[in-house]
Amino acid sequence: AAAGGPGKLPFVPISPVPNTVDDVVVPTGYSWKPIIRWGDPLFSTADTFDPNHQTAELQARQFGYNCDYLDVIAEANGRRGVLVANHEYTNEGIMFPPAADEDEANDQRRVALAAHGLTVAEVTRSRKGQPWTYVVGAPRNRRITPETVFAFSGPAAGDPLLRTAEDPTGTRVRGTFNNCAGSTTPWGTVLSGEENFNQYFLAEGTPEQARYGVGDRGDGRGWRNVDPRFDGVANPGYANEPNRFGWVVEVDPDDPTSTPVKHTALGRFKHEGAAVHVGKDGRVAAYMGDDERFDYLYKFVSKGTYRPGSSAAARKHNMTLLTEGDLYVARFDGDSSVAEITGEGALPSDGEFDGAGVWIPLVLDGESQVSGMTTAEVLVYTRLAGDAVGATKMDRPEDVEPNPVTGRVYMACTNNTNRGIGDYPRADEANPRTRNRFGHVIELVESGDDVTATTFGWSILIVAGDPATDPTTYFAGFPPSKVSPISCPDNVAFDEDGTLWISTDGQPGTIGLCDGLFKVPLTGAERGHVQQFLSVPVDAETCGPVIHDRDGSVFVAVQHPGEDGEWGAQTSYFPDYVAPGSLSGGKWGGPRPSVIQVVRDEFA
Ligand code: FEO
Ligand code: CA
Ligand code: CA
Ligand code: CA
Repeated sequence: AAAGGPGKLPFVPISPVPNTVDDVVVPTGYSWKPIIRWGDPLFSTADTFDPNHQTAELQARQFGYNCDYLDVIAEANGRRGVLVANHEYTNEGIMFPPAADEDEANDQRRVALAAHGLTVAEVTRSRKGQPWTYVVGAPRNRRITPETVFAFSGPAAGDPLLRTAEDPTGTRVRGTFNNCAGSTTPWGTVLSGEENFNQYFLAEGTPEQARYGVGDRGDGRGWRNVDPRFDGVANPGYANEPNRFGWVVEVDPDDPTSTPVKHTALGRFKHEGAAVHVGKDGRVAAYMGDDERFDYLYKFVSKGTYRPGSSAAARKHNMTLLTEGDLYVARFDGDSSVAEITGEGALPSDGEFDGAGVWIPLVLDGESQVSGMTTAEVLVYTRLAGDAVGATKMDRPEDVEPNPVTGRVYMACTNNTNRGIGDYPRADEANPRTRNRFGHVIELVESGDDVTATTFGWSILIVAGDPATDPTTYFAGFPPSKVSPISCPDNVAFDEDGTLWISTDGQPGTIGLCDGLFKVPLTGAERGHVQQFLSVPVDAETCGPVIHDRDGSVFVAVQHPGEDGEWGAQTSYFPDYVAPGSLSGGKWGGPRPSVIQVVRDEFA
C-alpha cells in the first residue's frame, strides 16, 4: 500500500474493515479516544449519565444523541477552543429499556426530544498535538434543545405560512430538529441543516406538505403525545408548524445567550447542510444540498459583502449576510450523447463525466422568479419552485462544500437505488448509474472562479464502489485497483492544503464494510487516489470529519453505533466497552454516539 502522502498526517491506508468489527480502526502510528459521549454532563458533574434512569431534565444538560456535524474551533493559543456538534436523531430501541406503559413511553419521548439539537462545549489541552478534553461547566457550554427559541430572518419571516396559534407573528420558533451536516462560517458562527424534519409531524396532506413527505400518517416517534404542536391535524392551530422546520440555522458558539436564527432566504427543504465561500467582490455564497432521491442542489448569494476581521462590529455585520440575497437551483447539462455507465471501463461517449451547468434563479433581490409563486412561497416551498424551473434531479445531494484553498465545490451524491427504475428518471451524465447503490462525488467550478456566477462547469470526481467487484467505478482516472473501496459518500472536508476528505454512510449494507474516512488528493498524479484513514464500529456512520493536519489530529462524530441492535441485545459497546448493560464509573455497556479524536502518536 502507498503511504498517505506528505504533510503532517502521513499514513498507510488501513485495510478494508468488515462490517462486524465493533471498534475504531486507525492507521499504524495513530491512536483514538473519545472527547465527549452521549450523556456526558455539560454544566455539572452531578448530572450523572445513567441510561437506566434517564430523564429529559438531565438529557437537556448532557451531550445529546447521534452527533453528526462537528467542528473543533481552536483559539490562537492552540490550548483552548470550542467543540460544536449536532444531534440529528435518536435510536430509542437501544437507548431505553422497553416502556412498561404509556406514561413511561411519554417520558422516553421527552428524553428523545431533549437529545436532539446541538451542543457547544469548551475544550482544552496542554499543548498542540495532545488530545483535547472537554470542560464541564465552562462559560460557553450550551445545549440547544427543542425548547430553545430561534428567530426567523429574511423575506419569509412573519409570513402567514409560518404563523401558528403559539406564534401568531411567524417570527419565533422553539427548537431545531434532525440537524445533519453544517459548517463554520468565515465569521466564526456555525450553520446547521434541518434535514428529515417531516418524520416528526402530522399535518393535512396538501400537495405542498406531501412534496416534503409530511402527511396525516407516519409519525412513528409519537411526539404528538407530549407536545400538541407535532399534530396539526388534531390541533389545526399548529397546521403550519412543519413549515417552521427544514431551514438552515445559524448559531454563535461564542455567545451562549445569543438567539439562534433560521434563515428563510436560504430556502426550505431537507437541508443536509450549508457551506459558505467568500467571493472576489466580498459577497458570499452558501452551497446547499437537498438530501432526497431526485432532489436538487441550491446556492444562495448574499446581497451584502463580507467584512474581514474578528471585531465585534465585523461579526455583527457578517451575521446579517444570510438574511438577504439571491437563491438559485442547479441544472446540470451533460455534453455526451451517451451518458449511462453500464460496464467495465465505460465512460460517457466524450470520454469524461462532465458538462456545463446553470444556476437558475428562484429569488433575485427579494423578488420571486417563479411564475405563480410569491417570494414567501418560493422560500417555504422551495422544492416546488425547483420543480417548476426544471432543476436537475440528483442522486441525493448530501454535503456540498467549497474547497477553502481553490474555491472548487465538492458535492457528495450518496446513492439513489431508484435511478432508472420503473417510471423514475433515467441516468444522465451527472447521475450516470442506473440503480446507483454506491454514490458519486461531483466537482463543480464556478465560471470565472466567481461564487456569484450564474453558470458553472462540472465533472464527476469519483463514481464510488468496490472496484474489485464493480466495474463501473471511476476515480478521476486513477487506477481503480490501487484505491480503498468506498461507498455512499456523505460528508466532505478539507485539510489545510485543500486535500479532500470524505466520510461515508452506508458501506455496511452496500459493500459489506464498516463506514469510514478517506483522503482524496485533488491535484497531480495522485488525483483520485482514495485512501482510507479510519473506520467506525458496527452500524455506525462516520460524520463531521475535521482534519487538523498541521496538528497531527483528526476528529469524527461516530453516529448511531449499534443502530440495528436492541435493548438487551446490543450489537455495539462503543466506546466504553464494559459488560453488556452494566454501568461502571460513568461508562456503560451499550453504544454511545461520541465525538472521537485521532492523534498521531509522534505528536502526542
Ligand atoms: Fe443526515 Fe443526509 O444525512
Ligand atoms: Ca461529457
Ligand atoms: Ca449526512
Ligand atoms: Ca447519509
